[in-house]
Amino acid sequence: MVDVILGLQWGDEGKGKIVDYFAQHYDIVARFQGGPNAGHTLYIRGEKIVLHTIPSGIYHPHTLNLIGNGVVIDPVVLKKEIEKLESQGVEVRSRLFISQKAHLILPTHRALDKASEQAKGKERIGSTLRGIGPAYMDKTGRNGLRVGDVQQPRFEQAYQALREKHLQLLSHYGFEEHIEDWETEFFEAIDFLRKLQIIRAEYRLHDWYHQGKRILAEGAQGSLLDIDFGTYPYVTSSTTLAAGVCTGLGLSPRQIGEVIGVSKAYCTRVGSGPFPTELHDAIGERLRTAGHEFGATTGRPRRCGWIDLVALKYACMLNGVTQLVITKTDVLDEFDTIRAAVAYQVGKQHLHELPFYLDDTISPVYESFPGWKTSIANLQHFDEAPSQLKNYLQFIENYLQVSLTGLSHGPDRNQLLLKQPQAFAWK
Ligand code: GDP
Ligand code: IMO
Ligand code: MG
Repeated sequence: MVDVILGLQWGDEGKGKIVDYFAQHYDIVARFQGGPNAGHTLYIRGEKIVLHTIPSGIYHPHTLNLIGNGVVIDPVVLKKEIEKLESQGVEVRSRLFISQKAHLILPTHRALDKASEQAKGKERIGSTLRGIGPAYMDKTGRNGLRVGDVQQPRFEQAYQALREKHLQLLSHYGFEEHIEDWETEFFEAIDFLRKLQIIRAEYRLHDWYHQGKRILAEGAQGSLLDIDFGTYPYVTSSTTLAAGVCTGLGLSPRQIGEVIGVSKAYCTRVGSGPFPTELHDAIGERLRTAGHEFGATTGRPRRCGWIDLVALKYACMLNGVTQLVITKTDVLDEFDTIRAAVAYQVGKQHLHELPFYLDDTISPVYESFPGWKTSIANLQHFDEAPSQLKNYLQFIENYLQVSLTGLSHGPDRNQLLLKQPQAFAWK
């Protein structure tokens, strides 16, 4: 059995927390795309942890965790993450597997990311500057270095050749940075990486699958940042959709079972690009403050707005979402009125499909809902949720034609209410 948890918006939907919650029912948690642009936050016994490369199942001692071939790995970030986990007493090395086919992010990829963003000026993507775009460009351009390469005697040589190419590109940009400073820690991290469990992951995953193990694929970023179907060019460089599970882990489409889509009860975006329901007013500011909407990776303030059901329906369609989890419902506790975009108005027309460009000519058409005006942080059962909240969620379910599995009502790992705990498929 392979199920998937992924984000339906522009990232930061709370995937890490949801994966951590569901991981109790799985044997293996696997990342299939993205890299250290991801920041997945868990709160465990009051402590905040942000994971960038390591799957969010790592805090459950019974789980195995896999970084798939579709992921781009910065060994420096990976080393720091493992050392942090180990300092907390988490056993990592025996439980972490890395595909030999995952690509490496080199120091020069980070420099190229920076140089490219600087050159774009006002048109910049607002990248996390983690070298993601350049690393995937080398992958598809067939120049990349993979994790398995670090075990080959010619690794240094291949590294130098690629570095040279990158330095030439950087000089085109007129970009200057002391790459050498980054290389010392890079090579220390490569040595560290060599001692980890680098495996033929696609074979092991199929073995586990046929042994009846339960596998959970963890998405990074969100559907609207997908390289093909996101708000191009303001996207990331990987397939963030359920389709990415196949290419990013070596599983077949027929092995995928449930696709659990995660959405906030409102919407955020970090970085540049269109966002039709963005609020530039005091309400947007209230959402940012109440939701602590600052990036888990870069610390940047997130842009905030109402939930966009037109975009969410698109994401459900592209992913084949079978179950929905709505997060951060508690953030709306104090709002008198909550709004949800149900169409885009262009001239006199109401659109229910995303146009080629989501530009300023589009204005969202909203449906309004009364707020519940009470704190839900301590709720113990879904049935106890205020009627206004249930009403809001029911509207979302009806609009999307996807059933709601649960709602998250606080950052802690236990703050999740299942709608039908007795029908919980994973128990
Ligand atoms: P991810 O990238 O999808 O894993 O999400 P992030 O970790 O980047 O951002 C989600 C933020 O919301 C984190 O700070 C979480 O701790 C927090 N969070 C997750 N679920 C909830 C929730 O239901 N309520 C509140 N208030 N915070 C939440
Ligand atoms: P998680 O997994 C939110 C955004 C960046 C930028 C664009 C491209 O935590 O949800 P990149 O560095 O990938 O080239 O940046 O994508 N972005 C994210 N936004 N959450 C993320 O990950 C993101 N990863 C990338 O802000 O707009
Ligand atoms: Mg995040």
